[in-house]
Amino acid sequence: MKLALSTLVFAFAASTIAQYDQESNPFNLAIVSKDQTIDGDTLSACHEGAAIESLCLSNSNSTSKPDPIPATVFHFNTSDTVVTPNASLGAPGYLTYLLRGGNFNVSEAMGLDINPTSNVALPLFWPSTDRAAVVSFDSNDFLNIQNYVVDTVNPPVSGEYRAYYRWYSCTTYYAGYTYVTLSWVLGEGKPQNPSCVKVNVKRVFV
Ligand SMILES: *[C@@H]1O[C@H](CO)[C@@H](O)[C@H](O)[C@H]1NC(C)=O
Ligand SMILES: *[C@@H]1O[C@H](CO)[C@@H](O)[C@H](O)[C@H]1NC(C)=O
Ligand SMILES: *[C@@H]1O[C@H](CO)[C@@H](O)[C@H](O)[C@H]1NC(C)=O
Ligand SMILES: *[C@@H]1O[C@H](CO)[C@@H](O)[C@H](O)[C@H]1NC(C)=O
Repeated sequence: MKLALSTLVFAFAASTIAQYDQESNPFNLAIVSKDQTIDGDTLSACHEGAAIESLCLSNSNSTSKPDPIPATVFHFNTSDTVVTPNASLGAPGYLTYLLRGGNFNVSEAMGLDINPTSNVALPLFWPSTDRAAVVSFDSNDFLNIQNYVVDTVNPPVSGEYRAYYRWYSCTTYYAGYTYVTLSWVLGEGKPQNPSCVKVNVKRVFV
């Protein structure tokens, strides 16, 4: 029993110390959508509170239209100790944004802010990686989130990793700020927020 417990503790510790510190070249994120009004738009970091940013559509929240907010440069941090389950679906890692302060810089990882009363989750960059989401870019540079558990059948099955692309552009409200932002819909249903438009997110190296 003692051995089993210490093995478990070790496995848990090993999984929590995975370092996503292999930084990619810089890139922008572009919206791909059937909706012509947003297709080709880019994503920009938008202030949502102290050191917290969402991903705004660059052309949808400009204060000086028609000039868009500049597209933000992002990086993708992978790990040399974490296995890639399926190379064509993409390596696991953190989407990162460098927050520049007056006399400091902090690399922030994107996570999903989940509202228990909505199926629309808000991707946000936070200063701590505690809330970071593990995401991937597939072989066509599309951003996805992967999982190996499928609970839409009874009983749920696990095994093969699948990639999900549940990205939408939605008008969202967070901590007093209303923006048109990249959003993630939880589950396979339709977003309950009526402003949401289906999009995909493509990495374009700069
Ligand atoms: C991403 O990798 C770079 C280079 O190792 C590191 O400086 C940065 O802190 C990492 N960012 C996150 C959010 O882990
Ligand atoms: C990777 O995922 C794709 C798409 O789901 C699938 O067709 C392919 O068989 C997978 N490859 C491996 C090695 O599992
Ligand atoms: C923050 O990062 C930018 C771009 O990499 C760099 O030019 C600047 O000197 C950095 N500032 C600090 C305080 O490290
Ligand atoms: C962002 O766009 C939305 C929808 O067009 C608008 O309601 C909101 O006022 C805008 N917010 C800012 C800060 O410009």
